[in-house]
Amino acid sequence: MGKSEKPMPEHVAIIMDGNGRWAQARGKPRLFGHHAGALRVREIVEACPEMGVKYLTIFAFSTENWKRTQSEVSGLMKLFKRYLMSETKQLVEANIRVRFIGDRMKLDDTLVALMDELELLTSHNDLVHLTVALNYGGRDEVARATKRMCREVAEGTLDPESVDAETLARRLDTYVLPDPDLVIRTSGEARISNFLLWQSAYSEYEFVDTLWPDFTRDEFARILSGYNQRERRFGAVPG
Ligand code: FPP
Repeated sequence: MGKSEKPMPEHVAIIMDGNGRWAQARGKPRLFGHHAGALRVREIVEACPEMGVKYLTIFAFSTENWKRTQSEVSGLMKLFKRYLMSETKQLVEANIRVRFIGDRMKLDDTLVALMDELELLTSHNDLVHLTVALNYGGRDEVARATKRMCREVAEGTLDPESVDAETLARRLDTYVLPDPDLVIRTSGEARISNFLLWQSAYSEYEFVDTLWPDFTRDEFARILSGYNQRERRFGAVPG
């Protein structure tokens, strides 16, 4: 495919980093930055349809984020609950399908109930597929999928000789999603921090200095059109 024919990315994943620094620069508590970050989530989700982005996956809380102070963790959990409650109607009406990936076992029951409800209420939507990674870690996800395969082998429903990459991919939290075409990380850090490790094997990466609460739809649009200029080869020699 020639460069000019290259489509916009269908699946974009975002590591929303820099909320804490954004707040600190304003002399405010870190949670103030997370609240500002939540407003950006809405703006970026709303921008997806016109930009041709069918799948958007966002990193909201990692398996490592429990190491933050207790007050930040509980503030974030409260924010997620409030956000899910206040955005439900809008997400349903805007034809957005919401899914969550990550381990729900450690999350509190009220939050999990809200997540289940939102998944159910939006299950017939299909304009944009929004996936929220909550208590998500790439290694943890691969470990959980591997545990599932081991159980199936022990139960005699999976032949170890038949196991290949697809066998594992089908057991990941993301089994219904295509792999991301583009992964964006804000705030100037060039790391992937355990996000979609398996799925991003051939993704493009874009690291931008902007802190997440300052990330606008215009910057999103600029990055997407930049992607359009690049060529992805999936390891092959260009033809
Ligand atoms: C990273 O900034 C951000 C997070 C760990 C939380 C992400 C959460 C939001 C954007 C809130 C809303 C999300 C949803 C789905 C409603 P940081 O705290 O690591 O910033 P720092 O690197 O400057 O400390």
